[in-house]
Amino acid sequence: MTTPLISITDVRKTYGRGPNRFDALRGVSLDIHAGESLAIIGKSGSGKSTLMHLLALLDAPTSGRIELEGTDTSRLRGRALNRTRNKTFGFVFQQFFLTANTSVLDNVILPLKIAGVGRSDRKRKGLAALAQLDMQDKARNRAIDLSGGQKQRTVIARALVNNPRIIFADEPTGNLDSATGAVVEDILFALNREHGITLIVVTHDEDLAARCDRRIHIRDGVIVPEEVAA
Ligand SMILES: Nc1ncnc2c1ncn2[C@@H]1O[C@H](COP(=O)(O)OP(=O)(O)OP(=O)(O)O)[C@@H](O)[C@H]1O
Ligand SMILES: [Mg+2]
Repeated sequence: MTTPLISITDVRKTYGRGPNRFDALRGVSLDIHAGESLAIIGKSGSGKSTLMHLLALLDAPTSGRIELEGTDTSRLRGRALNRTRNKTFGFVFQQFFLTANTSVLDNVILPLKIAGVGRSDRKRKGLAALAQLDMQDKARNRAIDLSGGQKQRTVIARALVNNPRIIFADEPTGNLDSATGAVVEDILFALNREHGITLIVVTHDEDLAARCDRRIHIRDGVIVPEEVAA
């Protein structure tokens, strides 16, 4: 068996303290293999986004171990952590807004800027990513002037511009009508199938969850078997 891409063991996350203490994750263990598509499902407040943030190294667990290709990620700090995140992951999160008054292209190339890629390479890669999403003709538009589906496609272009190994998507179709949602869904699965990008997606959308190779169901901060969740 190959080393999992991500392996987490007995991960717990507690927010707040004293009377405000809340145990959002209460011992979660999970292996995710390269090339998989995984849906994280469960009720509002069950801990899905919390788990996603920990998997994406955007937040640290209160306890437990998170390994990325066998490396204990608690040893990654500061710049090394930022570099790993920027190089390995792409994010399709509704909270990671586009910068409204900046061009679509500038929004898309932000991860390349962070990675220190030169100006002409940034532009070439940014336009190529936009072309993959049929958005190249909007490159010069301000992000604020796009439709909802176009914004979401721009977010996906930004997520894939760095050639990530993993795309994390939190409710990628949440604010879209069903036709546009289906387009976004198809794009994500094409990236998974054709480029082998591991797809980790939090969703309330049953069709989207059903298309993933595997589903994990979170309830009150723990993984429950699907037959129990049903
Ligand atoms: N920074 C925080 N401080 C305190 N409590 C928090 C914080 N972030 C999340 N929580 C709590 O942790 C629990 C899990 O939150 P989380 O965002 O992971 O839920 P979720 O499953 O993603 O829900 P939704 O489907 O509504 O997005 C919730 O009860 C939430 O109120
Ligand atoms: Mg959430």
